[in-house]
Amino acid sequence: MQAETVNKTALITGASAGLGAEYARQLAALGNNLVLTARRTERMETLASELTAKFGVKVQVYPADLADPDSPQRLCAQLATDNIDIDILINNAGYGVTGTLNVPEWNAHQDFMQVMVNAVVELCYLLLPSMQQRGFGEIVNVASMAAILPGAPGHTLYAASKAFLVRFSESLAMENINTGVKVQALCPGFTYTEFHDVTGTREQVSKMPDKLWLNASDVISYSLEELKHKNSLPVVIPGRQYRSIERFMRWMPRRMAYKTMLKRAKTFRQVD
Ligand SMILES: NC(=O)c1ccc[n+]([C@@H]2O[C@H](COP(=O)([O-])OP(=O)(O)OC[C@H]3O[C@@H](n4cnc5c(N)ncnc54)[C@H](OP(=O)(O)O)[C@@H]3O)[C@@H](O)[C@H]2O)c1
Repeated sequence: MQAETVNKTALITGASAGLGAEYARQLAALGNNLVLTARRTERMETLASELTAKFGVKVQVYPADLADPDSPQRLCAQLATDNIDIDILINNAGYGVTGTLNVPEWNAHQDFMQVMVNAVVELCYLLLPSMQQRGFGEIVNVASMAAILPGAPGHTLYAASKAFLVRFSESLAMENINTGVKVQALCPGFTYTEFHDVTGTREQVSKMPDKLWLNASDVISYSLEELKHKNSLPVVIPGRQYRSIERFMRWMPRRMAYKTMLKRAKTFRQVD
């Protein structure tokens, strides 16, 4: 984070598990106050009590289902009522939907795009002006390596939604170059969280080589470390192995890259 990032207030979406809960732990350890949001209130309350007891920071829990299109407005209205200015926005909530395009019901796609794309953009839209006014802000949009690699069959909208976040974050970072607001798209590869249990692909992905797996704590410390550097790039890839894959795929002829994805997708995407 930028030099003065202590005693700030962070809003973390998807804070009831995985990477969101880890952002909460690491930001609290640095002395920041938190607002946690997700659907599972009890888990967030347990985490809130733990972090307040351990680090003496103020942690508030605002339950919300981001598939509800009114959620971003409602969250921000509640922040205003409680007089809370958000300095750090971590747009992290997310999940996967298995199958090819026509397997899930349309409603499942609609909810997915609401959580993964619309809510992210709307929270940035609503919280950015006050960050700009105060001349300080940090926004992390949690994307994925899936945004960087070519698309693959199955979970059709996942890579597309994450690619959207990468381009969106790049533009937002450039628009804010002189405002004191820093924007990062974080692109993790396979990380140990509940993500693959929720998606229903745990058995499939557990066959992936160990060296491809990242720990949530390493992913988040890399993200926060990168935010500290004045000249860090807006797109951040944790894990040396994934930075090598990104470089390798960038230079690979496109036809070969598609063939590779088509072959490998069976190990991490479910098409039915
Ligand atoms: N783990 C990986 O391998 C990996 C790799 C690349 C990118 N990512 C990305 O990392 C982010 C965090 O995922 P994770 O790995 O930490 O997964 P996770 O352990 O399953 O956590 C996902 C979080 O998102 C929240 N969430 C899901 N749907 C929501 C909704 N409708 N409204 C509000 N909150 C919702 C969940 O909370 P509730 O269920 O309580 O609502 C939970 O807190 C996601 O954006 C994911 O796409 C993960």
